[in-house]
Amino acid sequence: APSLTVADIDRRPVPHSETLLEVKNMVQRFDDFTAVDGVSFSVARGSTHALVGESGSGKTTIGRAISLFNTPTSGSIALSGEEITGRRGKELRHLRRRIQLVYQNPFGSLDPRMSIGDSIAEPLRNFDGASTRQARRKAEEYLDLVALDKAIASRRPRELSGGQRQRVAIARAMIVEPELVVLDEAVSALDVTVQSQILRLLNDLQGQLGLTYIFISHDLAVVNQISDTVSVLSHGQQVEYGKTAEVFSNPQSGFTRQLIEAIPGSRYRAGDLNLGL
Ligand SMILES: Nc1ncnc2c1ncn2[C@@H]1O[C@H](COP(=O)(O)OP(=O)(O)OP(=O)(O)O)[C@@H](O)[C@H]1O
Ligand SMILES: [Mg+2]
Repeated sequence: APSLTVADIDRRPVPHSETLLEVKNMVQRFDDFTAVDGVSFSVARGSTHALVGESGSGKTTIGRAISLFNTPTSGSIALSGEEITGRRGKELRHLRRRIQLVYQNPFGSLDPRMSIGDSIAEPLRNFDGASTRQARRKAEEYLDLVALDKAIASRRPRELSGGQRQRVAIARAMIVEPELVVLDEAVSALDVTVQSQILRLLNDLQGQLGLTYIFISHDLAVVNQISDTVSVLSHGQQVEYGKTAEVFSNPQSGFTRQLIEAIPGSRYRAGDLNLGL
């Protein structure tokens, strides 16, 4: 039977029913332009919510608001029932640790002059004031966690492959022990083999560390495999929201159906979808 499988991943059932993140009616305007127009979703602890949609649909804008890099024009974002928008000072610092962001291009977030070990240790030193030695030791643990050799600690970013750099970016996000990780096109720049390795790593880390993910992607095949729930966005509007399996087997909006039909390869045509449901 045709399937939307991109990597060999066993998704476990979501371990909690507790809501970790609740976005309500989020609106983001840039001058006269409305980039996000009333988006709402809730995410259970330990689960993955995907934001999918074409370029410019507002995915990154939502991810940045959740990661506290921009303040929505209106609406609310709550973590464990506590409003996170508009926080300052100590409260903001504390929240920034609990929510980490991983980008598509780790070259942008890794300082080319810094060793990999110091890059991974840096957030820890910023948040904890950990000593150089403590931070280095923990950086080595996290290199191991993302399946990279300790010897990589002394290298520079340019000496690493794209997949290795993305593992470093993941280690750097995980080292402060966040609860929520926003992954913005985190595997999009990688070739298919490396992509499935990183997806498997993310899936394993989620199980091991009890993490909650916001997974931003334009790739529906990946979203189908990695997410529990999904929001489909079009021009800032949420055209679909629900359990991933239900959205894929029975899309409610014409837009979602078009997206599914647009997945490369005729075997992905919506009518042929057989997700074993
Ligand atoms: N700081 C800003 N000022 C003005 N417009 C912005 C700003 N940030 C984003 N936009 C606009 O908001 C819209 C949504 O952008 P966003 O980056 O969220 O889209 P996206 O879904 O992540 O797209 P892509 O798939 O290309 O990454 C776009 O039209 C973009 O040009
Ligand atoms: Mg984006």
